[in-house]
Amino acid sequence: MPPADNALPRAATLASRRALLKGAAGWAMAMRLGWGGSAMALPSANSGAALLIAPTDMMPGGLRMPAPLPGAAPRPPVTEPGRQSLDQGWLFHEGDIPFPVPADHNATYLSVKAGNAGGPAALDFDASDWQAVTLPHDWASAQGFDPAANVSQGYRPRGIGWYRRLIRLDPALEGQKIELRFDGIASHATVWVNGSEVAHSWSGYTGVTIDLTPFARYGDDLNWIAVRADATVREGWWYEGAGIYRHAWLVTRPPLHIAEQGVHGHPVRQADGTWTVPVSVTLGNIGDAPASAVVRAMVRDAAGRTLCQGSATAKVDGLDQGKAQITLRPDGAVAPWSPDDPVLHDLLVEVKRDGVVIDRRSVAIGFRAVVFDPARGLLLNGIATKIKGVCLHQDHAGVGVAVPDALVLWRLQRLKQLGCNAIRMTHGACAPEVMDWCDRLGFLVMAENRLFNPAPDYLAQLEWLVRRDRNHPCVFAWSVFNEEPMQGTHAGKEMVRRLRAAVRRLDPDRPVTAAMSGGFFNPENVGQAVDLMGFNYYQGDYDRYHALHPDQPMLSSEDTSAYGTRGAFASDPQAHVITALDKEAASWGATHRQSWQAIAARPFVAGGFVWTGLDYHGEPTPYAWPSVGSFFGIMDLCGFPKTAFGIRQAQWLDSAPMVWIDPHWTWPGREGQPIEMLAITNAPALEVRLNGRTVARIAQADRIMGHTLHIPYAPGRLEALAIDSGKVVARMVHETAGPAKALRLTPTHTALGSESDDAMAITIDAIDAHGRHVPVAQDMAHLAVQGGAIIGLGNGDPNSHESEKGSARSLFNGLAQAIVQGDAGLGPLVLEARAPGLAPARLVVGREGRSAAPTVAAEAPRQRLNRWLRSPALPARPDPRLAPAAGDNNSWDSVGSSEVATPAAGSGEQWHLYRATITPWRAVAARGGSLRFASLAGTAEVWLDGALLGRKTSPAPAPLTLALPAGAGPRELVVIVAARDGSVSGIAGPVDLTP
Ligand code: GAL
Repeated sequence: MPPADNALPRAATLASRRALLKGAAGWAMAMRLGWGGSAMALPSANSGAALLIAPTDMMPGGLRMPAPLPGAAPRPPVTEPGRQSLDQGWLFHEGDIPFPVPADHNATYLSVKAGNAGGPAALDFDASDWQAVTLPHDWASAQGFDPAANVSQGYRPRGIGWYRRLIRLDPALEGQKIELRFDGIASHATVWVNGSEVAHSWSGYTGVTIDLTPFARYGDDLNWIAVRADATVREGWWYEGAGIYRHAWLVTRPPLHIAEQGVHGHPVRQADGTWTVPVSVTLGNIGDAPASAVVRAMVRDAAGRTLCQGSATAKVDGLDQGKAQITLRPDGAVAPWSPDDPVLHDLLVEVKRDGVVIDRRSVAIGFRAVVFDPARGLLLNGIATKIKGVCLHQDHAGVGVAVPDALVLWRLQRLKQLGCNAIRMTHGACAPEVMDWCDRLGFLVMAENRLFNPAPDYLAQLEWLVRRDRNHPCVFAWSVFNEEPMQGTHAGKEMVRRLRAAVRRLDPDRPVTAAMSGGFFNPENVGQAVDLMGFNYYQGDYDRYHALHPDQPMLSSEDTSAYGTRGAFASDPQAHVITALDKEAASWGATHRQSWQAIAARPFVAGGFVWTGLDYHGEPTPYAWPSVGSFFGIMDLCGFPKTAFGIRQAQWLDSAPMVWIDPHWTWPGREGQPIEMLAITNAPALEVRLNGRTVARIAQADRIMGHTLHIPYAPGRLEALAIDSGKVVARMVHETAGPAKALRLTPTHTALGSESDDAMAITIDAIDAHGRHVPVAQDMAHLAVQGGAIIGLGNGDPNSHESEKGSARSLFNGLAQAIVQGDAGLGPLVLEARAPGLAPARLVVGREGRSAAPTVAAEAPRQRLNRWLRSPALPARPDPRLAPAAGDNNSWDSVGSSEVATPAAGSGEQWHLYRATITPWRAVAARGGSLRFASLAGTAEVWLDGALLGRKTSPAPAPLTLALPAGAGPRELVVIVAARDGSVSGIAGPVDLTP
């Protein structure tokens, strides 16, 4: 049998891309406006629609995965002027490295000075044998499973890790504001810049921005960033990963600039139906002098028409911030935002000085009115809208929490395909790209705070979340906690009051909620302090609570917690396998069908959030070891659908008819025996046919509970038909598969972008001699890739201990997934899959050329010799052995090479001696290296361990490069400089040692 070669040549890729462009005005608009990666992206009116996978678009041959989307996945939609990616060029060390203990008083004195951090935070630390990594990076996902590690975190050892990165800043940037931003580090992190400790980030869900400007060095004087990530810390009871697992950025802004998160504009509908957009713009000024500027704000629609504009003047003192407030009022009707039609508008803010625009920011906003009515639930733009939501953790198979952008989008597209219209970001701030896509795809988002604590450090985390996300039209509520033991107490209520007040100060419009799991009826409870009651589970108490609080709106912040193993249709507790037929749920939860029935029947319950949309690593409830992943997902950890996918589609999807029937129809040996089937449709009627014969007919189909059927097994073709007015409007077919004959590879997209960070998931399945998906195949697939890399593997089995990295993965109930990235070239990515006894599969994925996002280039590491002691001015040439007396911290200057002043000499001769104790990096110690002074002023002698290494004879400042012989440290390096008759002398630039 020939290989199942489903090559997708580049030509085909481009053709299908063109077809999409032709058919989708919104997409065309998006491309024109910069979603391809250009500077400032504007939202497009029907942009979301262009991103959707048709709800019933599944592959032929019984593979229930969507057909590949044409072209490469679009890039994250939001860019910022002055922002460069800092994802590349990191060095990583797994494990902690203790800080050295200073040996004597002088060393102690110096060790606590700015710029003098020691150990791995020091400028000259030898990290040359650390591993080169690219962000996002989650080192826990590469760990083996360890029964001694934490069950909730998925039995993955986490620990502590170090990162270092060298950055060159163009001298042209001097005078600009330079920010270093990490979107998320798991879990506690300390950041150093050039040997100074600059930030503590004490939540893995919160980003941290560092003002690099005062620490920055330019040109050849490079900057070392060091990060210690402590992932021994737990903030949750699920898999949280380890390391710098979201993007890192370098952002430059003009001296007078719009601050990060400095634009707040959120349309508010007035009682008369008109809209106002109160816009507040925060400016920062890093100069000395007060500066004033004109701030102009305007709202433009997707066609680029300006709907309204206004301006105000702001004055900002030096090293201070100032605000401009502008209220905009669009004339006439504006297209509203909703999940079905996520129309975005562009709020453009420009800052002008002397008539010249010096900074600008474009923010996507949406006009939508969110009102929670205690009796009718959510009224979105005046229309009762049931929240059909899922709770979502952020990790994915193979990559842990370091989910590539394209996969982030694809996960959301799968949820959209499900008919879901809302996501609760459990239980902490998501990556910023997730919010940007939710705006565009059309999801209502419950944004959630992580730790329940109104103490200043933790309140700051909540405030950070609100500031970051308050412009997003998708965000409809802020959740301040999830299931807290203090929820039914006076203290809990007092805590929530403070968190709510903090939110309200920053966002007066959105309701504050808390996801309660008890205490609802206590005399004092947090329900009394929130705008919107969030019920986790306790569905039997909805009516009682509503009767007691008829004026308080409520929703199910969490429900279901039903169990299921994807592709399994009988439970086997011994093997930790649970049927996917929606029969089992946690004692506090209910099946998908029961849960939604309780919500759908009650208009006063605004909707619900299923626990969970996709499976996640960790929390393997109801089991523990050897189970390592969750059983709760509507989809498994790879995004492969469980039976719950069909159930939820039937319950939620109104835009297209669908039908679902499970299990598959491959049961050799069970001929004549009844097979228990679950069939469900959103159409009025349902019919099931076996080999052309009707075996079940349901005149009034139940779209919430579905129908359990027992159909005697006979191999062949089983069809479920959705019927409306006598017509078949949707169909799902299972054909009995024969033995597996070949592997097959099905990508999520027909092309990969030319940027090396683009990624896609590829489904691996087995097919029989007729090309039919074999749902029971469990073969081990061995993969080989060219033109890229496999960055993760999975198969959705919560009990599997196979590595998520590498090149081999077994199919689990017919399916496995490889996540691949292209290399830096433009050649195609070729993936081959082999399994013993099966014909191999080969997939060729073309690359789509497109401009790469601005990126800070990686720099080759070098050892900066930055700790010098400089003698006082001496009248005559000193002996090279001259050194300060023990305990004398003051007679000699301690100077870093970059900021060394070049002392002006008086008349006659003046001498200085510079002394440094160096420990050459291991490579230099072993083989010798090159010692380079970028600028040495005056005549000079350089001595190493008492021997002359070289001389500089001309007095003018000039570079000097000398060969440093091999030898381990500590080594004494001495530079004697002389200046004559008022000239300058000294180390006047960086000193580097390179292997
Ligand atoms: C809830 C909790 C979730 C998850 C779930 C499992 O109580 O909020 O994080 O643990 O239970 O059923």
